[in-house]
Amino acid sequence: MASLTIRRLDEAVKAELRLRAARSGRSVEDEVRVILREAAAGQAPVAPPAEPSPARAPAPAARTPGAPASIVLIIGGGIAAYKALDLIRRLRERGLHVRCVLTQAAQQFVTPLSAGALADERCYTDLFDPQSEFDAGHIRLAREADLIIVAPATADLMAKMANGLANDLASAILLATSRPVLLAPAMNPMMWANAATKRNMARLVADGAAVVGPNAGEMAETNEAGIGRMAEPLEIVAAAERLLRPHAPGALAGRRVLITAGPTHEPIDPVRYIANRSSGKQGYAIAAAAVAAGAEVTLVSGPVMLPDPPGARIVRVETARDMLAAVEAALPADIAVFTAAVADWRVAEAGAQKIKKTAQGSPALTLTENPDILATIAQRRDNRPPLVIGFAAETEKVIGHAQAKLARKGCDWIIANDVSPASGVMGGDRNTIHVITRDGVESWPPMAKDEVARALMARIAGTLAVNPAAPAAKERA
Ligand code: C5P
Repeated sequence: MASLTIRRLDEAVKAELRLRAARSGRSVEDEVRVILREAAAGQAPVAPPAEPSPARAPAPAARTPGAPASIVLIIGGGIAAYKALDLIRRLRERGLHVRCVLTQAAQQFVTPLSAGALADERCYTDLFDPQSEFDAGHIRLAREADLIIVAPATADLMAKMANGLANDLASAILLATSRPVLLAPAMNPMMWANAATKRNMARLVADGAAVVGPNAGEMAETNEAGIGRMAEPLEIVAAAERLLRPHAPGALAGRRVLITAGPTHEPIDPVRYIANRSSGKQGYAIAAAAVAAGAEVTLVSGPVMLPDPPGARIVRVETARDMLAAVEAALPADIAVFTAAVADWRVAEAGAQKIKKTAQGSPALTLTENPDILATIAQRRDNRPPLVIGFAAETEKVIGHAQAKLARKGCDWIIANDVSPASGVMGGDRNTIHVITRDGVESWPPMAKDEVARALMARIAGTLAVNPAAPAAKERA
């Protein structure tokens, strides 16, 4: 079996691949896999939809028009430094020029060699560097960047920055720059919650730094969880793109997007309920991607353990009936994406008091069907969103069942995914989806849920660009 090294392809092909990958929210490797799969199936490869003219908006720093934006990536010394290596790849896939600076501590986690190889540029580590061709290297690095990203931004690095210390290359660059700075904090939750870190963060934000994350989740330390995980590379890239093109309208600017997410809880009595294993991760990722694409987002969420996606209006509900009422109240919308795993049934008469054990045996619970929110909205005569998308979580005959659902519910697209326990999709971070429309089935490669969300937004924006949905919901309202 022959193998292919993307690094060895010629520059023009690599540039085209990076652009396609960036548009579809895939890695370059995944993009190549999609192209090969399509070619093997005898289809002409379909380029993912382009976001409308990204080149329209100027980058903030003065540089030769057309030259790639230049990022200085400062890698701090934390376990999340390994994710900075992926970040370098993601930035370069988007055609950005990356120069890496590693602190002393960072070099305990990743090497200048690996960062330099991924950036295709020598890495900088020392304030007084005899090899540097620069006279005052830190000043040049600080000034030649369009944006400085600090990832991971450790508690120590942020403390130095907040206090104007400049005793190593990273802190000297941060003190010497007038460019925008994006911090991706990462640390143990106790360190993040410490009053000193909070003071430093507040100071840095007041001084103009932009911040992405940290996220909630498991820590590297055993049995530690909380807020402190570094934002994922694609989240950092999205934040960087917003800073580099602050005035660029997002692909969904001016559109209203309505999303349902999570499970519903159907009461049995005041303390018990029927639920399912939905984590809400895919719906929340879609809400974040829609916000990033410039949409006005309403997220109607069942009970989940996830941080609010910044920038979305969140309506919290418990039951399917409450979810339907919240969805109807949120209309009109241009796009409705129903990712929630709504309970099909509820207990016909939930107990007003806690049901007690009795000698007569177990209580008989009579179930009654819940309203189908997706079908109700898709079949409305008035105020039907022009693009209604449902999800189909299946454990067998994934595509067949989803096609039947598309017809039965009357929506425009169904996103089908395999949620059998072996797939690890329910509660996991990755997803493999099939986009089912009346025109056919697109099977996408496995991706992180946030990549699925970004690619879906690009796909939606592409569809709207081809079939501009009559006046946006705002104008109809
Ligand atoms: O019929 P099924 O539950 O498999 O359909 C899944 C799709 O329908 C999802 O988009 C889900 O959000 C939506 N749905 C709904 N209301 C229900 C059941 C499902 O909106 N009561």
